[in-house]
Amino acid sequence: MSTTSTEDTWSPLRADPSTTQPGVVLHGRAWTSAPAFPDPVAPRPCVVLARVVGTAGGYVRGLSAAGAPVTVCTTLDQVGPALSRFGSEADVVDLRPLDGADVVESLGLGAALSGRTARLVTVVRGVFDVLGDEHLDPRLAMLPAVCRSVRQENPLLATSCLDVTDASAPADGLVRLLSGRELPASAALRRNTTWYPQPHRLHAASSGPVIRPHGVYLVLGGLGRLGAQVARAIAAQAPTTLVLAQRNLPRYSAGLPVGGSAVDLRQVDVTSPAQLSALLDAVQAQYGGLHGVVHAAGTRLSRARIDELPTHRSIRDQLTEATAASVLGTTTLYAALEGRDLDFCALVTPGPEAPGHALHTAAAAFQHAFAHKARSRAGRPWTAVGGELSALGAGLLPALATGVGSVLATAP
Ligand SMILES: NC(=O)c1ccc[n+]([C@@H]2O[C@H](COP(=O)([O-])OP(=O)(O)OC[C@H]3O[C@@H](n4cnc5c(N)ncnc54)[C@H](OP(=O)(O)O)[C@@H]3O)[C@@H](O)[C@H]2O)c1
Repeated sequence: MSTTSTEDTWSPLRADPSTTQPGVVLHGRAWTSAPAFPDPVAPRPCVVLARVVGTAGGYVRGLSAAGAPVTVCTTLDQVGPALSRFGSEADVVDLRPLDGADVVESLGLGAALSGRTARLVTVVRGVFDVLGDEHLDPRLAMLPAVCRSVRQENPLLATSCLDVTDASAPADGLVRLLSGRELPASAALRRNTTWYPQPHRLHAASSGPVIRPHGVYLVLGGLGRLGAQVARAIAAQAPTTLVLAQRNLPRYSAGLPVGGSAVDLRQVDVTSPAQLSALLDAVQAQYGGLHGVVHAAGTRLSRARIDELPTHRSIRDQLTEATAASVLGTTTLYAALEGRDLDFCALVTPGPEAPGHALHTAAAAFQHAFAHKARSRAGRPWTAVGGELSALGAGLLPALATGVGSVLATAP
């Protein structure tokens, strides 16, 4: 995807060439189980990082039994010297998420390992819904996304996120993972089985159009680049009322070129519960209903390279700031829509995974997990749609028709 863009000159009133690309391919995620790795590698020296020494006990015993020399660290600054003492390629096992460490601490470890040759396994719980009925915490779901970003930013570092929820023997599973020649980006242990995620092709259901003729649709971030693509995609289906909302309304007040649809521009900050509820009430009162919401509000950051951020505190600040519209906006929207009966709520997730985009990647992972959870746990018709910019405008409505909570749209 091109990130250079026409940012300075782009206007929703102009045609956007990315909407004209024909066709999209939609993907979901499936989990497949696999036996132990063939041709295991010899155990390497291992640095185990744990907040609580007791958490490390079983893992240290398992690694030692497999023949790996192990050093346990309880603070980040002990990791570098421990690796240097081993003096060769080594593995790092981060157990801190099992004792409440969050994504910011993973970003800190990634930065501390920058420039080193190592393999890093982050051990987590409650991050993946592998079996289809598992509890999933959207905040924790940011962890594997950040691990993948850390891997992309550090070519010498291979990373993996291992979810040990309900594992019968988590240490054995960890040893199995580390005995593979290649470290999978994500894996999950359930009882005695190791599972791996695989993309799988999705097809839109053929049960009629998602957009109702004369329906009322709210697009948050509706005059942004993606929001306007979405508005045009909705309008191309049927004449509707499109309520386009964002914090700042433009100087021009002319409508978008959206065929027979009516456009209503509104001001809202998606992170404000009061403003969002007031907007929903006003739309409901004026139009007598609301049929769908698309959350396409977000901030496109300049490249926020984690190794350029000096302290943990600043990583946390950056994360909060960069993801406010996506993360806080999503939870605010969920609460504001409570009790309102919609055909769909779509979250358009921040950009693709790429070096320098760890914060966006984390926000996208949050939204995908949130929509999956809203659909599977609360029965709400939520879908997060991510993927290539060129495919999002054309892919959004087909993605909603798949009936799946988390979809990636790519150009064929
Ligand atoms: N998957 C991909 O390939 C991809 C590509 C591009 C973008 N995206 C994501 O999609 C989202 C929008 O991107 P874009 O390219 O359309 O960006 P954009 O052109 O900068 O538009 C962002 C829109 O969001 C609004 N907004 C930002 N913060 C808001 C808030 N707190 N409350 C209400 N509205 C808010 C902005 O208006 P105001 O500033 O006036 O509020 C604007 O309308 C971002 O999250 C971005 O990361 C994904």
